Amino acid sequence: MGKVHLHDRWFEPFITPQELERAIDRVAGELKQHYAGKRPLFIGVLNGAFFFAAELVKRLDIECEVSFIKVASYHGTASTGKVSDLIGLNERVEGRHVVVVEDIVDTGRTLAHVMSLLAERHPASLAVATLLFKPEAYTGTLPIDFIALRVPNAFVVGSGLDHNGLGRNLPGIYRIVQSDQTASS
Ligand code: XMP
Ligand code: MG
Repeated sequence: MGKVHLHDRWFEPFITPQELERAIDRVAGELKQHYAGKRPLFIGVLNGAFFFAAELVKRLDIECEVSFIKVASYHGTASTGKVSDLIGLNERVEGRHVVVVEDIVDTGRTLAHVMSLLAERHPASLAVATLLFKPEAYTGTLPIDFIALRVPNAFVVGSGLDHNGLGRNLPGIYRIVQSDQTASS
């Protein structure tokens, strides 16, 4: 793994694909223990969660369902109401054991929004599984139930995470190189 250039910025290897796999193995084991026999519904938040969702469920030899949503952003009028904010959710959530699958929880604002919209639909239980968690950036109050890896408060890409659309396909995780470091290296 060498440095990569995406648009205007350099990124350096930070977490190897092997480390990531081990972390996903562990969190998949936790989920399996917790949800065996409960037929959980995993809901991945697109675009970033496609990688983690796939890696997670292929390790889960329990009965489960997988679906994806997009979260509408808030420009313009909010007159369409809250429910339409979760685009693509066709499954009935009421009475189900729901696990929201995220690529990264940073400040936690996106997650809090998704969780409150899902909670309105009365799931039997509601939890979150995230590939990466930035504890130093987190300002939320919800517990982050299942975490593959904790990362420091730096911008990262790879394995689903992007810089303006690029980098989602990189294996492992890359960390942004501060501009003043790029010149000297
Ligand atoms: P929060 O938790 O702050 O995160 O609501 C909002 C969204 O921002 C993206 N995000 C990142 N994307 N590298 C990325 O590629 C990062 O380090 C990063 N931090 C936040 C991500 O889409 C998240 O859902
Ligand atoms: Mg995201």
